[in-house]
Amino acid sequence: MTTIKKSMRTMVAAVTLALSAGVVSATEGVEVNHLGVSNTLVRVTGAGKYLLLPVQEANDDARINVLVDGKIAETIYVRLARSKTDYMVPFDLSSYEGHNMVLDIVTPQGRGSVREAKDDVCWRGIELSDTFDVSDREKYRPAYHHTPLYGWMNDPNGMFYKDGEWHLCYQWNPYGSKWQNMTWGHSVSDNLVDWKHLEPAIRPDGLGSIFSGSCVIDHNNTAGFGKDAVIALYTSAGTSQMQSLAASSDNGNTFKVHAANPVLTLESEARDPNMFWNDETGEWNMVLAHALDREMLFFSSADLKKWTLQSGFGKGIGCQDGVWECPDLFELPVEGSDEKKWVLICNINPGGPFGGSAIQYFIGDWDGKTFTADTDKDGKIAVKWLDYGKDNYALVSWSDAPDGRRTALGWMSNWQYAAEVPTMQYRSANTLPREIGLFRAADGAVYASSKPSPELTGLRDKLVVNAAKATVGRKGRSYQLPAANGGICEILLDIDAQKADSVMITLANNAGDEVVMCYDNAAHTVSFDRRRSGLVDFSEGFPAVTVSPTFEENGKVSLRIFVDRSSIELFGTDGRFVMTNLVFPTEPYSTLTLNADGGSARISNLKVYSLKVK
Ligand code: FRU
Repeated sequence: MTTIKKSMRTMVAAVTLALSAGVVSATEGVEVNHLGVSNTLVRVTGAGKYLLLPVQEANDDARINVLVDGKIAETIYVRLARSKTDYMVPFDLSSYEGHNMVLDIVTPQGRGSVREAKDDVCWRGIELSDTFDVSDREKYRPAYHHTPLYGWMNDPNGMFYKDGEWHLCYQWNPYGSKWQNMTWGHSVSDNLVDWKHLEPAIRPDGLGSIFSGSCVIDHNNTAGFGKDAVIALYTSAGTSQMQSLAASSDNGNTFKVHAANPVLTLESEARDPNMFWNDETGEWNMVLAHALDREMLFFSSADLKKWTLQSGFGKGIGCQDGVWECPDLFELPVEGSDEKKWVLICNINPGGPFGGSAIQYFIGDWDGKTFTADTDKDGKIAVKWLDYGKDNYALVSWSDAPDGRRTALGWMSNWQYAAEVPTMQYRSANTLPREIGLFRAADGAVYASSKPSPELTGLRDKLVVNAAKATVGRKGRSYQLPAANGGICEILLDIDAQKADSVMITLANNAGDEVVMCYDNAAHTVSFDRRRSGLVDFSEGFPAVTVSPTFEENGKVSLRIFVDRSSIELFGTDGRFVMTNLVFPTEPYSTLTLNADGGSARISNLKVYSLKVK
């Protein structure tokens, strides 16, 4: 059993259960006092590192004011169990050791005359413990994608690379597997594959919960927190949204919230600050999502604390069918040329090409104050999508990545159904890390590419299929996929479909689940059909066919497909297109079948690797 374990604490000397008149039920060291139909006080009288709280996901949130020596130290929201317990979540008591602890709980909904809080099952289940079990309970937990140990996760945040370590913070709910209590969870890796979970980086405070943001390394101590301090800028989401700063002087292991927060306020909703050092202008630049106005705002600063508004971009431009969130802005060389261009990432929700959330981007120029988007040959600013699957959102990049790399990843889900996916101990993973690049396509325009990060080849274990040459027609060829580790594998496939209308790549299992990817030689697209991929009916938005342009004109595509326990990521020729899609097969896909329609297709290379995971 994997547990988070710390030494026993001696919180309050008396462990005796002094049951007063109002106490109706309790476990050892916990007193429960019901005060009325929806208000309950829970007093901690015993010792333990955690107070474990029973959760029922279908219930609404209870508001819990945590009183420490009579003062509100924090407020958390937990779906306390009413009629059954789905799982427990840990409230960490260690920082309050030696103090009087009372939770003042208001349970939800108009219980009115029908029922009272005291009937709820949670009160009998709240217990003190020195351990919290985080061993994996989920069939669909990815084997080689980052996931939180438990609880809900959405956007990646504040990613930075420092001294050989990739830091990944993320929107996290420590008290349940649905969105709430936004906190910056924190993980670190030296290879972008094996992640170590650290203590949360930034927790909610009096200004609100901690929404998305970014980190930079302040090499020249411009902000006054020390040379090479890691500075985080994030959105404090209370009654309104404002931007706040936190700093770390221990390599990003722990962050201290700036006492003079917020550092930036606006009259309208704005969030998810993303900043970077601009060498040309010798200033910090920042992009902020002016979410409801569906535009991005640009700021500059000398010290990361005082920000000056320079301009906005986006009103009426690009896809406007959802709020604009989670921006990023960086410069990259255009492959095969001396040219450089700027990429402005504008995540939008909803309004994605296949419903729900998606990553829109613009290519253009940035002079430190204004972003000017490239226009196409008709003089229009084209709508461009970074990922043609349904499950890559809030993608942003690492700051200070080595070797000029622009390494990025996204949240591998979609707001349409993220809270309904069939997992419970945790919800959502990150996409695989990818290297963003630029290429000029046949239409004359510049597009962004996404290549799997080079570290991912380190996952390869055995070459289980190696077919140098094969021809497929209507009658296909099938290959066995590796069975170990829930069928995880990497598939490499070079297709020449010049003499066929289409080529189908089907992953299937004995339960009848299948995913069909189809290259269409006339349309120059690849589609991904997950309508029969396994569990699909938890949300109407889930069964879908997604379609990507392949950016070629010769009927040839190379595919690199990563299969994990609940996702498939298909990277096309040199990363020119990518589709990230979740799947929940009832059992692992066990066969790969290739066949063609309207002629025959040559497979010049097919390799399948089993993958090793720690
Ligand atoms: C995007 C987003 C951000 C916000 C965060 C809150 O998914 O809505 O705009 O900061 O999630 O969790």
